[in-house]
Amino acid sequence: MPRISRDNSPTEIREILFKNPIIERNIKVQMESSMETNKLKTAALRGSFATGLGALVATLGSAVGLGNIWKFPYLTGANGGAAFIIIYTLSTLLVGLPVMIAEIMMGRKARANAIGTMQKLSPSKKQPWWIIGAMGALAAFMIMAFYSEVAGWVLAYIFKSLSGQILSTSPEVTSQAFVNLVSDPWQSLFWQWLVLAVVCLILVQGVSKGIEATTKRLIPLLFILLVIVDIRSLTLPGAGEGLRFLFTPDFSKITAVAVLTALGLAFFKLSAGMGTMVTYGSYWPDDQNIPLNTVRIMFSDLFVSILAGLAIFPAVFAFGFEAAAGPSLLFITIPAVFASMPFGNIVMVLFFILAAVAATGAMISLVEVPIAFLNEQFKLSRAKSAVLTTILIALVGSTAALSNSSLADFQLFGMNMFDLYDFVSSNILLPLGGLLVVIFVGWFWGDRKVKAALSNEGTLKNQAIIAAYTVIVKFISPVLLLVVMLRGLNLLPF
Ligand code: PHE
Repeated sequence: MPRISRDNSPTEIREILFKNPIIERNIKVQMESSMETNKLKTAALRGSFATGLGALVATLGSAVGLGNIWKFPYLTGANGGAAFIIIYTLSTLLVGLPVMIAEIMMGRKARANAIGTMQKLSPSKKQPWWIIGAMGALAAFMIMAFYSEVAGWVLAYIFKSLSGQILSTSPEVTSQAFVNLVSDPWQSLFWQWLVLAVVCLILVQGVSKGIEATTKRLIPLLFILLVIVDIRSLTLPGAGEGLRFLFTPDFSKITAVAVLTALGLAFFKLSAGMGTMVTYGSYWPDDQNIPLNTVRIMFSDLFVSILAGLAIFPAVFAFGFEAAAGPSLLFITIPAVFASMPFGNIVMVLFFILAAVAATGAMISLVEVPIAFLNEQFKLSRAKSAVLTTILIALVGSTAALSNSSLADFQLFGMNMFDLYDFVSSNILLPLGGLLVVIFVGWFWGDRKVKAALSNEGTLKNQAIIAAYTVIVKFISPVLLLVVMLRGLNLLPF
């Protein structure tokens, strides 16, 4: 080995030292251990779900929400009942689920927020896959804007039903009560901001102590309340008509727009196509079986939607109300329906508590997307990120909250801001985000990486499932998504 002398330059000294095998090994060991510590440090800073069950329940808490209690029933009502449910289930299986699996897998692999994950996983710095993350963030803001408002109405309705203000069998009276709420700018803002403040307080506690701990309590409560309301609704005389509506398909109602709506709903329901599942995936423990657990989540979510349908439609038909009442089904028809039945006032309070419970888990996951982003990319503390995000959502959300009062005349493409956010996010951004995700995973990321990630580096024996998944993600989901989107937006000649 050459000796070091005074005449050597610093670079030469470094070279000589690096050639020494003992020194070289020491440097390597030190580097490895500091990489290990760095990994541990980031894990501790980022937070993660403490247990597999916790990850499962928190993710289910994101999927289950106003989508099940508010959107699913009214869209089913407006699009032909059972036939729509069949189309929706197919969309969920062939498109929603593959995207959800892809997102959780990518998040867990990269252990980063939605935009950071795409940056980390992109095969080359030149390919701008981070755009998927950025588009997701845009969709997240649009959804949060109108979602927090509906959640606000639900909260308001708990109090209004407790005080008996909306207890009337006449839809004219309940409709007036709803109009009074949404056309009052201060009330609208108050309830929306209250929801945001509660969600912010939960999120400041962190991933495990905030998100995981809260959803673990909420999900069982939701199931219990739903079952109680179901029993009441199903034991009403005349409930059979509602069951027939939910379970006998009439395919004549299925148009291209209805299929696009089902697809949009599948994404919305599974919180897919916009970064929430990437963010939650980044908190999933390494040993969790992603394909199996996402299937469990998907079926539990579908089950909750059916339970919500069973709570609503038998009662609606039993008292001779319209099923296709649109988005106002929840706030105008339901109160009148409940007011018509024995013990209706109690059932109504339980029903709106249940809806608020469902909305909370979903809101938490939505707001977590920008928090994780600010926290990691800008190194802001979790508390600061949470407060900043909440203020931003309150500002954007106000335009949705005021869309029936101060901003009622402000319309774009013939829609007020509330409807515009809902339409653009569900029918355009989520399917488009989903399309880009399956294209990335199917065609750019590499089959070997998908196999390794979904089999937990070879420890799970699920080769056949992964093979099927690869085919779906490469050929079926993207083609279906593309055709349905173009057709639904009237961009195809047939
Ligand atoms: N899945 C939620 C629901 O059905 C809504 C949601 C969409 C939540 C997107 C997070 C992200 O209510």
